Amino acid sequence: MTILLTAANGRTGRAVLTALKEAGASVKVFIRDEGQWPELQALGASAYAVGDMEDAASIEAAVEGFEKLVHIGPPMHPHEIEITDRLIDAGLKTGLKQFIYYSVMHPLRRAVRHHRLKLDAEEHVIESGLPYTIVQPTRYMQHLAPIWSSVKDKGEHAMAFSTEVKFNVADLRDLADATAVVATQPGHLYATYELAGPEPLSQTDMAAIISEVLGRDVTARAIPLDELEQKARAAGASDDRVEQMLTMNDHYDRFGFRGNPNVLRWLLGRELRRFQDYVKDLAQQ
Ligand SMILES: NC(=O)c1ccc[n+]([C@@H]2O[C@H](COP(=O)([O-])OP(=O)(O)OC[C@H]3O[C@@H](n4cnc5c(N)ncnc54)[C@H](OP(=O)(O)O)[C@@H]3O)[C@@H](O)[C@H]2O)c1
Repeated sequence: MTILLTAANGRTGRAVLTALKEAGASVKVFIRDEGQWPELQALGASAYAVGDMEDAASIEAAVEGFEKLVHIGPPMHPHEIEITDRLIDAGLKTGLKQFIYYSVMHPLRRAVRHHRLKLDAEEHVIESGLPYTIVQPTRYMQHLAPIWSSVKDKGEHAMAFSTEVKFNVADLRDLADATAVVATQPGHLYATYELAGPEPLSQTDMAAIISEVLGRDVTARAIPLDELEQKARAAGASDDRVEQMLTMNDHYDRFGFRGNPNVLRWLLGRELRRFQDYVKDLAQQ
């Protein structure tokens, strides 16, 4: 079985590529730059197409001949709907048999633009007439990785969220495995699956788990939003990206990001990786 995968070179794309490969699929990756191919080939991709999700012709050429597409959109992208529509149009022309759309948990939280755009994109997928499966993943545990060395050096788990608001974070590897299940096993057409992690955890809870694994004190700190903005701008984030991040962080602070892990557990047929397991993995690297 050969599957086309968009945004394959990103953090999610690489995890999904690995999971699809482990599930026995052959994967063609849609990438922007040929120079990305050797690393993706090393991860197990079998072929590649170079193109841009903003360009209908390159999308159509890539989708041609494929029965299954796993579509991951670029994060917080203002053209999420237009990109999804281009892929739908290409799929309708070329006879796609399953459009797997990687959405987000709680797309109905319209106050956060990228949730709202994914909700509208889901509507387009459902009404397109293409057989589809939608996965709605929660926030990743892997957001800890970029700050891991600073957590160890400073003894501080600092993220731009209230230290008390709870998130059902999931291990990206579990979310990728679930995406591979719906793409490679029968019985998942016309389904929408909310994918939440095993336990609701605040930044304080996470700091306590990290303390236990490292055997020394780590405390939680809520980075103020103006500090987040400064860091994002220094890292080159666009005005649009900064605005989306600030809106999201403020919204999650007010309402949390909790979900139920039953569907993810059912799809995987096993227990989910816990935050403690993920921290132990990081500590051993
Ligand atoms: N982070 C989370 O906790 C979370 C939770 C739920 C859902 N999600 C969703 O997961 C998705 C992927 O997020 P991510 O963090 O994996 O993103 P990422 O690491 O930034 O990867 C995005 C990928 O999209 C590619 N891309 C961007 N614009 C493109 C274009 N115009 N044409 C072709 N490719 C393009 C990039 O290509 P280059 O490599 O060439 O730059 C990159 O490989 C997003 O839709 C996000 O909303 C994330």
